[in-house]
Amino acid sequence: MATREELDLIRERVDAVAVLSRYLALKRSGKNYMAICPFHPDKRPSMVLDPEKKLFHCFGCGEGGDIFKFLMKIERLSFQEAVERLGRETGVELARRGPGSPLARLYELNERVADYFQKNLQDEPGTAARRYLLERGITAESCERFRLGYALPGWDSLLRRFGRTEEDQRLLSQLGLVVQAREGGYYDRFRDRLIFPLADPQGRVIGFAGRLLREREGDPKYLNIANTPLFTKGEALFALHLARQAKGSATYAELILVEGYLDAISLHQAGFTNAVATMGTALTEQQAQLLRRYAERVVLAYDRDAAGEAASLRGMRALRNAGLEVLVALLPSEEDPDSLIREGGAAAFQAVREQALPFHKFYVAHLAAQAPDRDPLRVERLLAEAGSFIEGIASRPLRHELIRGLAEAFGLAEEEVELEVARQRRPAQAQPGPRARAARPGGPAAPWGPEEHLLYFLIQGDLSLDQARQELEPRDFTRYPRLIEAIFAQQGDGPLRPERLLEVLEEADQRTVTELALSQVEFTDRERAIRDALAALRLPRLERELRELKQKLLEAEEHGEREVAQRLLAEQRERQGLLRSLRKGVIEGQRR
Ligand code: CTP
Ligand code: MN
Repeated sequence: MATREELDLIRERVDAVAVLSRYLALKRSGKNYMAICPFHPDKRPSMVLDPEKKLFHCFGCGEGGDIFKFLMKIERLSFQEAVERLGRETGVELARRGPGSPLARLYELNERVADYFQKNLQDEPGTAARRYLLERGITAESCERFRLGYALPGWDSLLRRFGRTEEDQRLLSQLGLVVQAREGGYYDRFRDRLIFPLADPQGRVIGFAGRLLREREGDPKYLNIANTPLFTKGEALFALHLARQAKGSATYAELILVEGYLDAISLHQAGFTNAVATMGTALTEQQAQLLRRYAERVVLAYDRDAAGEAASLRGMRALRNAGLEVLVALLPSEEDPDSLIREGGAAAFQAVREQALPFHKFYVAHLAAQAPDRDPLRVERLLAEAGSFIEGIASRPLRHELIRGLAEAFGLAEEEVELEVARQRRPAQAQPGPRARAARPGGPAAPWGPEEHLLYFLIQGDLSLDQARQELEPRDFTRYPRLIEAIFAQQGDGPLRPERLLEVLEEADQRTVTELALSQVEFTDRERAIRDALAALRLPRLERELRELKQKLLEAEEHGEREVAQRLLAEQRERQGLLRSLRKGVIEGQRR
């Protein structure tokens, strides 16, 4: 871990605008910058960057944090890695100490295992595997680029090599490379298989898949690792790290999406270095978001029959909802991109690419093909199916486009189709996304209460920690217990330091902090507003204390304790005076 001083120095030196502009098109807006948010499907710029505070916040999805957080999210780095990267960039040398983090050890082991598989393929035991690849037209250069490898036939080749200690065996098992045997101990997961390493967008090895060289009774053609700390099924995309390097400019990039490892490799080899593979599974929302980060447009090149499957259609919808342009390439039936290229070369695929249909046209054609004679019953069923599908599409123009297309395809009036879509509408579905009390940049969020206002003044530096601590107690707040605790625990009496605060908070609280830090609210009288917010928070406690005082006073009088009663009465008067002036402030404040 970096030291406090190292972190502060990086923060001080880093140029937040320069870092963010590598990923986003920033537009100046007052003292801040705005951009289309890369973390949710954003239509107009909802992300704000404050170049001085070096904080970002998206007023659409609520994502926010400091410059380290931004790199972690966009490059999928750990905190440590983000610090290392910015350390290098800003020339802050990080003192090395202790062994790496547990994750770093796993990455490092995966790296060595990838090297080992690669070497197996090149050595004598890899002869048959090399021949297999040769027959499939995979060049030595591709083997190198994709780091293809070979797992030896024995049950414990890898285990003996990398699992000498129990601790090492545990790491191998965590990585999914060995499997626990029923009678205890472990054995190699991959045996006599061609190996495809899986990488994250930075090119770090996160897992492996293995393919049989020839059919083997009872063994699946492809074997994948299960979820591990580094790999989550449905989140990774094969070859994305290579496509990223190849694509050049950050915007308007196109990625070709295929199903298989060998499809992606064949495409790269044929010059389509923008191909990535989903690895057989249906496309997930996470993959759609990931693709959105690196591309503007996605061309799906799935097998003919796979493309029309419900799961694939949902995947296309997810891509479209993520804000991507989606095209569907129509492969000749019985072909996948790999076989197509092997038979007809790059030109064959290029032709298919050029004839790719926009998603809505593909969808309409796909449905129309299922009722060629417009049989009313079939049409009715297809419309119901289409209705619920279209319902889940975020873009209104696209929904309309689909409705128009279907009406034309089935010879119906648009209104009829529209009615069907409306009929399939699920009642009040909870929409994920913007939080209920999301604010707009430049304007106060309608439902801010005294707690948000007070936090706002603290985070903006309008109110010192010292004053807040004098007038308030943590229990005066109810909505943000952990955040308040962290604020009261901050060192020093001066202004609050949001960047320090972010280090100790959980995600939800981090977002609250960045939202408040980057909101711009106009007050006719800022001083007054601060006093009002303080008063509004103190009031409930004062009222409670006053009630207690009254009770005590009553008891003292009953027991004839005159001196005590006198003291309590004085105290009560003082409190009542304070309360009156506080109430007055609050009421006037609200009238504004
Ligand atoms: N797949 C998988 N597990 C299986 C079968 C397939 O994970 N049991 C995934 C692999 O990522 C594979 C992709 O689905 O690359 C496509 O599978 P398939 O079409 O069966 O194979 P191909 O890619 O055509 O593989 P090959 O050309 O090697 O036969
Ligand atoms: Mn194939």
